[in-house]
Amino acid sequence: MKKAARIDGKAFAARLREKVGEHALAFAAKAGRKPGLAVVLVGEDPASQVYVGSKGKACVAANMDSFEHRLPVETSEADLLALVERLNADATVDGILVQLPLPDHIDEQAVIAAIHPDKDVDGFHVINAGRLAVGQVGFVPCTPLGCMMMLTERLGDLSGLEAVVIGRSNIVGKPMAQLLLAANATVTIAHSRTRDLAEVVRRADIVVAAVGRPEMIRSDWLKPGATVIDVGINRLPPEPGRDKGRLVGDVAYDEASEVAGAITPVPGGVGPMTIAVLLRNTLVAAHRNEGLAPPEGL
Ligand code: GUN
Repeated sequence: MKKAARIDGKAFAARLREKVGEHALAFAAKAGRKPGLAVVLVGEDPASQVYVGSKGKACVAANMDSFEHRLPVETSEADLLALVERLNADATVDGILVQLPLPDHIDEQAVIAAIHPDKDVDGFHVINAGRLAVGQVGFVPCTPLGCMMMLTERLGDLSGLEAVVIGRSNIVGKPMAQLLLAANATVTIAHSRTRDLAEVVRRADIVVAAVGRPEMIRSDWLKPGATVIDVGINRLPPEPGRDKGRLVGDVAYDEASEVAGAITPVPGGVGPMTIAVLLRNTLVAAHRNEGLAPPEGL
């Protein structure tokens, strides 16, 4: 049977990073400084340390300044809020990203609320969630924006298409649904309480899976030809003789690619897009902060 087209997020992300890097040079020539991203990490969570390191390197490779703030796990909420205030006031900082999750003694929502909305390149501030909901210019969370870029490149106009988003998180599911709605898709948000999920997914021309359950979505849930975006990154238990399990998405990739029209792989699909979009958002923030028009078509 025909195999689905593989949507190559890694290649797409590489192209986006290249373009952002060129625009960052042009920005520096006009503004007399590079776009700057501050990344704040509290504690020593190994996965977060890797993410923060990758974000810093990606910034430098895209001709941007990276300001890393690695704070001890016992940092108080007051000290973290004071750092955010200093970064808000620093004209060389265009974007502020506080890596989540934060230690339990710190209120994540309070920290996100303290970031100036115009430096909130994660798009997590309620002001930016509200702007997205009402169609105003703001910042959109990186993962759903990256998914949207891949969908529109693949499908062009999404008007009238049936889209099912599985997952309702503030970071992926809800903003993804808003973006699809703004693009005139007919949008359903499904979640753990949805009745007959397979039947709901079978209606979809576009499936966005963001549930965090390894290979939950099976081929017989899919409408033939559907475009499938798999946001899940799940590590399976290690097989005998191996120290790490395989990474899989929320979609059973091999069988789904017998039915879907196009599908993102895991790894190499949505994941690489997230950092590329973070750079894109930082570039846009830099332009807005300097009163310049952001580059078109990014
Ligand atoms: N932790 C995992 N992903 C993200 C992200 O996109 N932004 C932030 N701030 N923290 C994260």
